[in-house]
Amino acid sequence: MDKMSLAFQMNKFVGDLHVFKTKVHNFHWNLVGEHFFVIHPMLDGIMAEIDTQIDSVAERLLMVGHRPHASLHVYLQHTVLAEAETKPYGAKEAVNYMLHDFKLLLTEINLIMKIAEKNGDGETLSLMTEIGALYQKHIWMFGAWVA
Ligand SMILES: [Fe+2]
Repeated sequence: MDKMSLAFQMNKFVGDLHVFKTKVHNFHWNLVGEHFFVIHPMLDGIMAEIDTQIDSVAERLLMVGHRPHASLHVYLQHTVLAEAETKPYGAKEAVNYMLHDFKLLLTEINLIMKIAEKNGDGETLSLMTEIGALYQKHIWMFGAWVA
């Protein structure tokens, strides 16, 4: 598959989201310290959003005639994210890691949007615009919290 193709980038993003969800689960489980009761449940909401995004992007791939990647091995081959060590995380540390990943993922989203626009795929553009707007909101809020 052409590395710059829309389907390749969408599939790469499906993998990114799986890796991201595993990392958020890691922070959710291994969170320690004074902000536990705020950040631990907040991460449940982030994971629920990621699940919805995974399903929407994968099903969009099917709608345009492609098969979504469904293998952890393949996800890890293409992801832009680094996995996180299993260890205790303080709230600020976890939020900073997620802020970093939200920014990387937003770059991926913007690339997909650009290709979708070039291809005249308004529905994929609309889906990715919605996800991108949510990531911009998280980047603002997470950034404000760690400032
Ligand atoms: Fe939980």
